[in-house]
Amino acid sequence: MATTARVPGILIAFEGIDGAGKSTQAALVADRLADTKTRALLVREPGATPVAEAVRRLLLERGKNAPGREAEMFLYLAARADLYRRVILPALDRGRFVLSDRCFWSTVAYQGRGLGLGVAKARALSLIATGGREPDLVVLLDLAPEEAAARRRGKADRIEARGSRYLAEVRAEFLALARRARGKAMVVNAHLPADTICLKILARLRALMRRRRRATPRRSPA
Ligand SMILES: Nc1ncnc2c1ncn2[C@@H]1O[C@H](COP(=O)(O)OP(=O)(O)OP(=O)(O)O)[C@@H](O)[C@H]1O
Ligand SMILES: [Mg+2]
Repeated sequence: MATTARVPGILIAFEGIDGAGKSTQAALVADRLADTKTRALLVREPGATPVAEAVRRLLLERGKNAPGREAEMFLYLAARADLYRRVILPALDRGRFVLSDRCFWSTVAYQGRGLGLGVAKARALSLIATGGREPDLVVLLDLAPEEAAARRRGKADRIEARGSRYLAEVRAEFLALARRARGKAMVVNAHLPADTICLKILARLRALMRRRRRATPRRSPA
């Protein structure tokens, strides 16, 4: 008798400081997966829903109207809640492969540690936003802040205004998160060429998918 196997959805997030290559790798991996007939859903945080894209614009506000640090964290959380409830969680329920450019690790690293709002609080609030769902794998693109700044040259932004000490703190927190996440994180040397990085990520994703298929019970049709 024929059997059907429903592989549950997989959520992969790309993390790292500004300019580390997250968007580059998310796009490359989505393309390579498409070559193998896996159509991944690519989203970015904050973004991908009308509410979250509006929040993204608010976060770009500079000068006297710029959100303070608490408001900044809650804006990111609001965008995340909307994205998870409307897009990511339903897609995972349908068995989709979701690639996310950033995830709650950014809130923990930038607002929790970098802005001093507390890493435990940032994590707890983020998980309310995601309904408790964490990525199955976080790809941490680890890059020295000086190299990241060189790659972003010409794009003076809010992050740059906070100074290199801030990004060094954020990078340290990302590495601490990866150590604690054990098998659910992959740290990649982001100084490597983009194609080399992509191959490493794809090898890890193939291993993850193989493990998933083996762990998924095959169901006989009723
Ligand atoms: N492995 C790499 N080696 C050299 N340059 C790279 C590499 N990956 C990406 N870049 C370049 O570095 C710049 C930043 O890359 P990208 O936009 O992907 O980073 P990001 O992490 O998404 O940044 P942001 O946080 O600002 O969105 C781009 O100009 C990109 O072409
Ligand atoms: Mg990007």
